[in-house]
Amino acid sequence: MGFLQIQLMNLLAILMIIASSKSSLSATPPKFPIALKPNCTDQCGNISIPYPFGTTEECYQSPDFLVTCNQAFNPPKVSLRNSNIEITEIKLDGQLRVLKLIAYHCYNQDGTSASDYKKTRIQLARSRSITVSNTANKFTVIGCDTYGYIFGRRLDKNYTKGQQLDRNYRTGCIAMCSTKDDLTEGSCTGSGCCQIPIPEQVWQVNISLGSFQNHNNVWSFDRCSYAFLVEESAFSFSPENLTNLRNVKKLPMVLDWAIGNGTCEEAQMNASSYACKNVNSKCYKPNNGYGYRCSCLEGYQGNPYLIDGCKDVNECEDPHLNNCIDIKQCKNTIGSFHCACPRGYHGDGRKDGRGCIHGESLAFKLAAGISLGIIVLLLVACWLHLELKRRKQTKMRQMFFLQNGGVLLQEKISRRERSSDTTTIFSELEVQKATNNFDNNMIIGKGGFGIVYKGFLPNNRIVAIKKSKEVDPGQIGQFINEVIILSQINHRNVVKLLGCCLETQVPLLVYEFINNGTLFEHIHNEAKARFFSWEMRLKVAAETANVLAYLHSVASIPIIHRDVKSANILLDHTLTAKVSDFGASRLFPLDQTQLSTLVHGTLGYLDPEYMQTNLLTEKSDVYSFGVVLVELLTGKKVLSFDRPEDERGLASLFLSVMKKDRLFEILEENVMREGNKKQLVKVAMVAKSCLHVKGDERPSMKEVAMELEGLMLGEKHPWVQTGHDEEVKGFLLEGEFSGAINVGEDNSTSIGFDSAKDHVMLSMGGGR
Ligand SMILES: *[C@@H]1O[C@H](CO)[C@@H](O)[C@H](O)[C@H]1NC(C)=O
Ligand SMILES: *[C@@H]1O[C@H](CO)[C@@H](O)[C@H](O)[C@H]1NC(C)=O
Ligand SMILES: *[C@@H]1O[C@H](CO)[C@@H](O)[C@H](O)[C@H]1NC(C)=O
Ligand SMILES: *[C@@H]1O[C@H](CO)[C@@H](O)[C@H](O)[C@H]1NC(C)=O
Ligand SMILES: *[C@@H]1O[C@H](CO)[C@@H](O)[C@H](O)[C@H]1NC(C)=O
Ligand SMILES: *[C@@H]1O[C@H](CO)[C@@H](O)[C@H](O)[C@H]1NC(C)=O
Ligand SMILES: *[C@@H]1O[C@H](CO)[C@@H](O)[C@H](O)[C@H]1NC(C)=O
Repeated sequence: MGFLQIQLMNLLAILMIIASSKSSLSATPPKFPIALKPNCTDQCGNISIPYPFGTTEECYQSPDFLVTCNQAFNPPKVSLRNSNIEITEIKLDGQLRVLKLIAYHCYNQDGTSASDYKKTRIQLARSRSITVSNTANKFTVIGCDTYGYIFGRRLDKNYTKGQQLDRNYRTGCIAMCSTKDDLTEGSCTGSGCCQIPIPEQVWQVNISLGSFQNHNNVWSFDRCSYAFLVEESAFSFSPENLTNLRNVKKLPMVLDWAIGNGTCEEAQMNASSYACKNVNSKCYKPNNGYGYRCSCLEGYQGNPYLIDGCKDVNECEDPHLNNCIDIKQCKNTIGSFHCACPRGYHGDGRKDGRGCIHGESLAFKLAAGISLGIIVLLLVACWLHLELKRRKQTKMRQMFFLQNGGVLLQEKISRRERSSDTTTIFSELEVQKATNNFDNNMIIGKGGFGIVYKGFLPNNRIVAIKKSKEVDPGQIGQFINEVIILSQINHRNVVKLLGCCLETQVPLLVYEFINNGTLFEHIHNEAKARFFSWEMRLKVAAETANVLAYLHSVASIPIIHRDVKSANILLDHTLTAKVSDFGASRLFPLDQTQLSTLVHGTLGYLDPEYMQTNLLTEKSDVYSFGVVLVELLTGKKVLSFDRPEDERGLASLFLSVMKKDRLFEILEENVMREGNKKQLVKVAMVAKSCLHVKGDERPSMKEVAMELEGLMLGEKHPWVQTGHDEEVKGFLLEGEFSGAINVGEDNSTSIGFDSAKDHVMLSMGGGR
């Protein structure tokens, strides 16, 4: 019982679905605009009238599509162009369903006519816009002693523009049978029912019928003949139709309609008359008839003949329109839809497609594989590049090493190594590491010569690393010169060269780091000058004089510094002077006069005699030292454009003041306060003698050093009068000369690196 009930309910449900889907086209009001204007009638009874059809001139596309809505009938009747062709449905896919009378002829037993309507006729406009569908309709003849004709006019197939050609057509069908048993349900092959297709492009149909024996022979079961054109799907033959068709007046028939009479291409050339107005519509050629039709693109729905006719279909709302496995995963897009797959699945998510498959997609795997391959390739390429670069760098380093006189220096340094002090040759890597790859934050000084970086060696030693700014062979020469000079000096008042690096394009020099700035800063920086006592000033002067004297006289080959200035004298934490920047210095063999056009030294400190002779001698260093001494005494800038022209140079100012006996007016405050007047005058006298215009009349550096030493000691221990000469000597000899240098060899190196002959350099106080 229960089972049957369920079956019945199922059947009912199915029937209801079928019924609702059949009536949906005309029963539910259209979702989209179908008429051209709001005022146009788009409904007549329950028949919708979409554009291009219309009931008035403003509403139809062409007079061929004029329909009339006759409200006099109930339900109201729609007919085509005031004709008797009754429309039951207008479809936008290019078909019209109409009702048409059938032709019949019934006989009495004696063969006379009982009733007849022997002819029917369909007359469409010759405009080619509307034709009888040759695919949907069949010419049907029913009876057991019947023949039927169908004839009329059809448009000619090879129509050329400007011609309106049509011609007659004529065809027919015979239906016969001898007994009722000959008839078969659903079969229309001549026994009681004959069906034939009709030609294309038919616009006029005449139907006529007749009987051979007036149904005499079959009168017992068949008394009527019928002939009609019918929508094939709407008619299925049944033996009973021999009699029951008599009560049927009209049967459905299908007409085709199309726009214009050109092809799509021809129509598109005239945009104003082109009927596919909607952007989401397309034009297509119908099977039957001339002209063209429009349709909405897939995913859109509505009236393609209206500008706003085609609307996106939300396929996700209707399970019939989408085939997503999970309707919740359906995403509507404009013109289409998309089925997603749950996480971890891939595929198109469609029932009739690939569905959803567990795992990642092949494309994903392929992409992953390819990207992995590319990464590996890139890594290999990177490694190759780096390796090549490394090799090139090594080669460059070797080249620079040679170019920078590495072999020679190495030899020299290896000799020094025999003595206890070691000069190291650093590798480029070590220097880079020490300076954090020449980080800007590590710069402690900049000047005409280049850049000085602070560096940290692995043993936590702080060093200063001097790097030439330009790639100038002259500059490289200076660096090499400095290495050679410094490699011969080992004095506590000279900045110590710890090593060098020759693997870079420009050689790098590594010095001990002197942490307390330059003498220049201590004199001219107000904050520092305040704490720079006279005692300390004198000590620095004495130490500087001492080391210069040592360079001039004690070494076997005299060395002229050639750029003595306060900026080149560094001070350590105990304010011990450390002379630096031997870049311009020269080994000065006693037996050789130096001929050089190279201007070194700094304006304000430069020996005036040099201007005439172009020759820098030991006495030039004496002059420069004199200027430093004056600087210490007065705290004034060596060159100042604030002073009158003849007193711009500190030396000339000092000399003129000395001449006028007004020394105490220009002495620095601290000096004035702390200094012993007598001692100050003596120091000033030393300075004056150093500044003598004629080099020959200047004292030697040794004399200056002894004088200052004496003054210093005299101040400290005024009671010590004798024996201080020995002490001075001892002090002088404290700086020890490493005696490993052979004169001949050094001569040659000095010449070898004198590559800056034709350069003029005036370094403007750019010291460290
Ligand atoms: C609609 O039609 C009526 C009568 O035919 C007319 O009076 C009215 O102006 C029309 N409205 C529009 C918007 O065309
Ligand atoms: C249209 O209306 C008529 C009369 O009310 C009705 O018989 C017919 O079934 C309707 N057609 C459709 C398709 O609903
Ligand atoms: C069809 O019938 C009409 C009216 O009876 C007639 O004028 C026309 O000539 C007929 N057509 C043909 C092809 O005979
Ligand atoms: C139609 O075309 C065929 C072949 O092109 C030609 O033979 C025939 O005469 C044409 N018919 C008309 C009516 O022009
Ligand atoms: C033909 O006969 C069958 C069976 O009686 C009937 O259902 C059908 O409606 C008839 N066809 C027409 C067009 O009347
Ligand atoms: C079809 O072409 C003919 C001849 O050019 C023309 O007279 C007629 O108006 C056209 N029909 C339509 C619907 O454009
Ligand atoms: C284009 O169509 C419009 C309206 O149908 C008509 O007035 C016009 O003459 C046509 N233009 C051409 C070039 O055919």
